[in-house]
Amino acid sequence: MDGRPIGVFDSGVGGLTVLHEILVTLPHEDVVYLGDNARLPYGPRPLEEVRRFALEVGHALECRDVKLVVVACNTATAAALPELQQRLAVPVVGVLQPEAHAAALATRNRRVGLLATEATVASGRYEQLVRAHDASVEVISVACPRLVPLIEGSDPFGDETIDAVRAVAGPLKEAGVDTVILGCTHYPILRPIFQRIFGREVTLVFSAEETAREVAETLERKAIGNAGGREGSYRFLTTGDPASFAETGKRFLQLPLGRVERVTIAQAAPAAA
Ligand code: DGL
Repeated sequence: MDGRPIGVFDSGVGGLTVLHEILVTLPHEDVVYLGDNARLPYGPRPLEEVRRFALEVGHALECRDVKLVVVACNTATAAALPELQQRLAVPVVGVLQPEAHAAALATRNRRVGLLATEATVASGRYEQLVRAHDASVEVISVACPRLVPLIEGSDPFGDETIDAVRAVAGPLKEAGVDTVILGCTHYPILRPIFQRIFGREVTLVFSAEETAREVAETLERKAIGNAGGREGSYRFLTTGDPASFAETGKRFLQLPLGRVERVTIAQAAPAAA
């Protein structure tokens, strides 16, 4: 038995979609969630910079004595999963692999759409992973730079968001995809909007549930789970404004977050060019 908490991070509140599934699957575990809101969005940044941020946040969680780190951010997973696994002493679970697998299984016409941040699309990781499962599948990728700032903004379900979703859905509808990966942990917050715009015949894929299952399996196999039957506690940290994190987080998670703490992250020097 291991009473240490699970660490979960994202650039903002998107990772709460993953946290929700962790709370459902592992209600007896304690969790520390860290949103790197001061540096959000990660999506428009070069992969090298996102990798540095991810390693800094991973170390910050390790300093808080977590027993496992969940990278609840597709951009950070695409940029840095292998490096995080190599550099951190605790196991690290990311979010791309389960979605790629589910999409390869779900498609019937072998045409899969990907909606993700610019950095995730630029990494090419989804194409590699989908095609590792089924080399016959074509992945059509669309970067969505407007969505994360809108979801974190003051009117996440407003006209501008509907308009932005329509704009990114257009090329995928034209390409005739039957499966769409919501390849950013912020996007499932807009799931009803996506489903209305794509229609029922398109399968939407996202990884929160699958990721929580992988966390549960990792804890079990490594024998680092907490005692069953207890009620876990959760703690929220942000590098940004705690009040706005608490408000946005409560709305999306439908859970009072309690006191959100502001933290600073020790920054590593950027790698020499
Ligand atoms: N939730 C992050 C992801 O999954 C958002 C990235 C961003 O900050 O742009 O990619």
